[in-house]
Amino acid sequence: MTLSLENIINQKISAVFKKLGLAPEYAFVKISDRPDLSDFQCNGALALAKSERKNPREIATRIAAELEQDHDFAAISVDGPGFINLSLSDSLIARNMDEIAADKRLGVALVDKPKTVVMDFGGPNVAKALHVGHLRSAVIGESIRRIEEFVGNKVISDVHFGDWGTPMGMILAEVMRQDGSLAKINTYGIEDISAFYKKANTRCKEDDAAKENARKITAELQNGNPEYRAAWQHLRNVSVAAVKKIYDELDAHFDLWLGESDAHETCAEIVKIAERQKISEQDDGAVIIRLEEANKPKPPVILVKSDGGYAYQVTDIATIKMRVDDLHADEIIYVVDKRQSLHFEQVFEVAQKLGIAPQVRLRHIGFGTVNGADGKPFKTRDGGVMNLEDMIAMSKDKVRESMPEPDAKYNAAYIENLVSEIAVGAIKFQDLKNNTASGYVFELEDFAKFEGKTGPYIQYAIARINSIVRKASDTGIHPGKISLSNREERELALKIAQLNAVVMRAYAEAEPSILSDYAYTLAQTFSSFYNVSSIMNAEDKILASSRLRLAGLTRDVLKLLLKLLGIRSPEVMLKKQ
Ligand code: ARG
Repeated sequence: MTLSLENIINQKISAVFKKLGLAPEYAFVKISDRPDLSDFQCNGALALAKSERKNPREIATRIAAELEQDHDFAAISVDGPGFINLSLSDSLIARNMDEIAADKRLGVALVDKPKTVVMDFGGPNVAKALHVGHLRSAVIGESIRRIEEFVGNKVISDVHFGDWGTPMGMILAEVMRQDGSLAKINTYGIEDISAFYKKANTRCKEDDAAKENARKITAELQNGNPEYRAAWQHLRNVSVAAVKKIYDELDAHFDLWLGESDAHETCAEIVKIAERQKISEQDDGAVIIRLEEANKPKPPVILVKSDGGYAYQVTDIATIKMRVDDLHADEIIYVVDKRQSLHFEQVFEVAQKLGIAPQVRLRHIGFGTVNGADGKPFKTRDGGVMNLEDMIAMSKDKVRESMPEPDAKYNAAYIENLVSEIAVGAIKFQDLKNNTASGYVFELEDFAKFEGKTGPYIQYAIARINSIVRKASDTGIHPGKISLSNREERELALKIAQLNAVVMRAYAEAEPSILSDYAYTLAQTFSSFYNVSSIMNAEDKILASSRLRLAGLTRDVLKLLLKLLGIRSPEVMLKKQ
């Protein structure tokens, strides 16, 4: 059974094609290019005419004649070379709205065969505070995670902590240099550890011997030196606790808190498999895999570095094996900066060569950077990297400015929670309204406004409908059967009817901006509807009840969209008078 209006019409078209003996693959409609002329159009006759060498208008006319029998269509016309323009009857649309409103999933389909999808996003690193570069991975990743889950897949999200590379040795070396030993390491918090890392970073850039030393310590740590392991465990624990706080605030959920270190044993296995299959070779003390170059340069993949340590790439290859063997992944989705595209191409290609992920779909969803007004990656006023924590605080300050003073009804704690929901929603929506692959300029002034294409605007639209519903209920109006009495109601209903297709497209393309675009136009369509279709002053109670139900349905759709975007919908929105 389908509740999608588009699918309902497709089924009707299919039945006609079947009856007329026409090839079924062209039996579908799309939303009309000319909404002033029709609701949907079917271009199947044109495609059929080509393959069957017949006159498209003649085929279209035959299809149209059959569809005429169906009272669910209010108007059918054959236009141009053979487009079939279809307008639906109000009663079909209204019936569809009633069904969607009664459905827990609001008519959104589930996938036929649920898959196990492992999602790799977040990608924080030990000793480094989350910064604006981590924002998109967390925000886009969380939205895709929710979309995947909503359509019925089993999702396992893994933060894939960067806890195993040379920075580990760098920090340990720096602590030893300053303290003479690692004895005090357990007393250090995240701030201290970040400071050690910053110092080590500068030192290793200037001093080759320091760099060499850090590399040696990293290799020893990886090979199991117990003192280093114990110290490293502390670095890791402290770092996990620090990033968890921010991910919680951003509502980004991770089922697993594994890291690159967890792939260590499997890295050794990968090296063996590659050796056995004669895919790898020795190169200057390192173990590498050469890849065929198509039409662009492709550097070889390093499995083992010349110092015996494992590199970033082999860790990802090993992690694929673990996700397939232990988690039974059918698909692995990486939401990582698109500047790492080559890395993932290489990793996926090697996984393929080694046969460690047969029939597993490997996808890298690469995102563009968050930029400042100058078009370069977003920086703080003094030119530093913007901390995520600071960015959230800044957004909260902005939102707080527009909040009223606390009173008996809404106390300070209530308002502060609201500030957080709006501020985080504003940051997330600004990110998610942009196409994933392209970068965007962080709008310092406008992103938290209550008007325009912003998170708060959608949250406000929801809260406004909440208040309409409350008022109506207080005056004894209850949601009732939907009927369409004017153009705006009809347009709103047709907009709502697109929900299933929109979610399915966002799912197929792993593109949350499809949802944010739709949420924005839906909220606008609602405004146009509500401007002319009063509920309190409707001509009669039946009409009032119908409009109320349509309003409530709009609210539920908007809430679902925000949920899939990972944004909260406050019940009430407050604003300074
Ligand atoms: N920690 C890495 C970085 O900061 C990102 C990790 C991305 N995920 C992965 N499986 N490689 O660049």
